[in-house]
Amino acid sequence: MPLPRLTIRPRRLRRSPAIRRMVQENSLTVNDLIYPLFVDEGIDEAVPVKSMPGVFRIPLADVAKNVEAIAEAGIPAVIFFGIPTHKDSVGSEAWNDQGIVQQAIRAAKCAVPDMCVIADSCFCEYTDHGHCGVLSGEDVNNDQTLLNLRKEAVSYARAGIDIIAPSGMMDGMIASIRQALDDDGFSEIAIMSYAVKYASGYFGPFRDAADSTPSFGDRASYQMASGNRLEAIREALLDVEEGADFLMVKPALAYMDIIRDVREASLLPLAVYNVSGEYAMVKAAAHNGWIDEQRVVMETLLGFKRAGANLIITYHALDAARWLKIL
Ligand code: PBG
Ligand code: ZN
Repeated sequence: MPLPRLTIRPRRLRRSPAIRRMVQENSLTVNDLIYPLFVDEGIDEAVPVKSMPGVFRIPLADVAKNVEAIAEAGIPAVIFFGIPTHKDSVGSEAWNDQGIVQQAIRAAKCAVPDMCVIADSCFCEYTDHGHCGVLSGEDVNNDQTLLNLRKEAVSYARAGIDIIAPSGMMDGMIASIRQALDDDGFSEIAIMSYAVKYASGYFGPFRDAADSTPSFGDRASYQMASGNRLEAIREALLDVEEGADFLMVKPALAYMDIIRDVREASLLPLAVYNVSGEYAMVKAAAHNGWIDEQRVVMETLLGFKRAGANLIITYHALDAARWLKIL
């Protein structure tokens, strides 16, 4: 049998490194990366997070040098999580102007004024029960929590924050924070909404790192169910209407379809959160010699871009920035 005469040969576009570079449709740059930092009020020296090799809880005193190293690597933004020494039923440390995140924001801005400083805004690290707001019985009271989110946002703003990132999945959180910021003269501060956040097993290592595991129950009454797709688009569009400046999808790896959906449903810059469990899996496999860490990380991060992400919050950011320089 004669071979068929092929006129169309996709392999022509893969023949040489130069051609492959010319036809590459998506790319990852250091500008896409946001590095998370855990600042712990109760320590004097950095403490490794066991389930996240390479990640540390750092003391306030180390914020400046960490932010300098991140800037040195070319990464444009950090996102802070605070671990306070004092917790109570409402999480009042979250709106203390001398709280750990507020101090970290000031230290970061002082060390590197050009760094874009983001702070996660929630209460699970601040409440003694580990839920993301004020309780009414066993449930998180949405509207009471909004009142506290407003106070937290304004306190971060006074400390010099660039972007506030509410992560508690409370209804109306974007509108509430926007109004509170505008009322207090902070109309220039942007909001990055954790618009689409699924209740996820992938948050496990983070909860060790941030000491934010709920003491009873789970987050299913406020975070989304993993089978839902239309609801994700609805959440995203609601936050656009409420005045969000950025949207986020979280976790990332198991929700690539949702990243694409949200990208197509709105015109806002879209961030994805490559969460702690995703990081831990890669680190564990790499540690065992089962995968090539650099290759897998870069493939994953590029995958987020291809899916429609504009920004990636990732614990791999410092490594990725280094690898981008070498490549
Ligand atoms: C707080 C918050 C969580 C994460 C970011 N902000 C945990 C949670 O909702 O339980 C998870 C980040 C990660 O897993 O890396 N609401
Ligand atoms: Zn929370």
